[in-house]
Amino acid sequence: MTKKYSDLVDPDEGQISALIYADEDIYDQEMRSIFGTSWLFLAHESMIPKKGDYLTTTMGDDPVVVVRQSSGEFVAFMNQCRHRGMRLCRSDEGNAKAFTCSYHGWVYDLSGKLVQVPHEEDGYLGALNKEKLGAQRVPRVTNYKGFIFGTWSEEGPTFEEYLGDMAWYFDSFADRWQHNEVLGAPNRWIIDCNWKFPAEQFATDVYHAETSHISALIAQGGDWVNADTRGLQFSSPGGHGTGFYLDDAPDMTDYGPVASEYRAAIRQTEIERLGETRAVHVRGHNTIFPNFSFLVGTNTFRIWQPRGPHSIEVMTWTLGDADAPAEVKDAMRRNALRTFSAGGIFEAEDGENWSEIQGVLKGSRAGRSSFNFTMGRGAAGHHDDFPGRIGNIYSEEAGRSFYRRWLELMEKGD
Ligand code: FES
Ligand code: FE
Repeated sequence: MTKKYSDLVDPDEGQISALIYADEDIYDQEMRSIFGTSWLFLAHESMIPKKGDYLTTTMGDDPVVVVRQSSGEFVAFMNQCRHRGMRLCRSDEGNAKAFTCSYHGWVYDLSGKLVQVPHEEDGYLGALNKEKLGAQRVPRVTNYKGFIFGTWSEEGPTFEEYLGDMAWYFDSFADRWQHNEVLGAPNRWIIDCNWKFPAEQFATDVYHAETSHISALIAQGGDWVNADTRGLQFSSPGGHGTGFYLDDAPDMTDYGPVASEYRAAIRQTEIERLGETRAVHVRGHNTIFPNFSFLVGTNTFRIWQPRGPHSIEVMTWTLGDADAPAEVKDAMRRNALRTFSAGGIFEAEDGENWSEIQGVLKGSRAGRSSFNFTMGRGAAGHHDDFPGRIGNIYSEEAGRSFYRRWLELMEKGD
């Protein structure tokens, strides 16, 4: 890859080269410049509620362990033994008193400190400095309303500063109910596509819905044809984005009578928490840069984990109101599974688009073409009721901002 990044990505003109979705060198640089510096989603606090509860995940392509400490704090460290680099923890989740490497038995405590080494005296002759051989700690981890994010950057913006105006929109999801909990285990699956296709779509693209999802919307029973699809899109210098309809329609939820009744009953409380404008209207698609996305209507959130330039691992969860009756939680979980999960009707249509595009990029000419991101150029600005830069929902302003942020970080280097 000899071209400059600014030759490939021109957010102002709305031109994006197809090369950025398939090139190995660009992918490697993304892992350092973007995933090595941004705030990344690690876990929701309800996934690891007790002392010693842990889960394993990745930050970009680096494996990490996230652990609840006895103080209630969360710590994350590289899932890599400092002896020969074996994975320290080999299960997806659990509860531990310590982590023992399965290769030669080095033992790390819940904060990642190396505490015990077999044959420390007769092998290392007492000369091993265990203090210096703790697992590599993620230097900054924060808990934002139950959502735990971490960054490899020792300095830089706090998570709240990183969100900027996006916090107001994220709160329509994270702060809708007094207590949140994740409902059930994650759905995990692989899609053969570059991580930026889903991330940018959730930031900027409701445009695809009335074409890609028309059969699913009809199957859901919604009247898309007569729905009022006027709406707005928020875009951010941080690369985050969201779009939402100003009316409630079209609705992708089908909770059944009990859960629908419960949701209607708590509407007023939601309005008191968030204000009417936000509680009622801000219920759309969202991405927090780079790879955390959520849908307020169907209460799903997910990470698009990069697995090389041509592949992602998707992990999705359903967020529920912890105070709701079990029957309601179950209905919400089932609704998310039906719509946005490995087997969800909308999700399947989205994944099909992204993997088809990735397949087309294998062509030597097709892989060097340029994509058009010009929708709504020059039309976004101030809005009295919604913070940040606001344009029409049918716009690619948030896509251009996503790639403007991408370019800024890629040009900065490691
Ligand atoms: Fe972990 Fe040797 S690689 S103890
Ligand atoms: Fe979609």
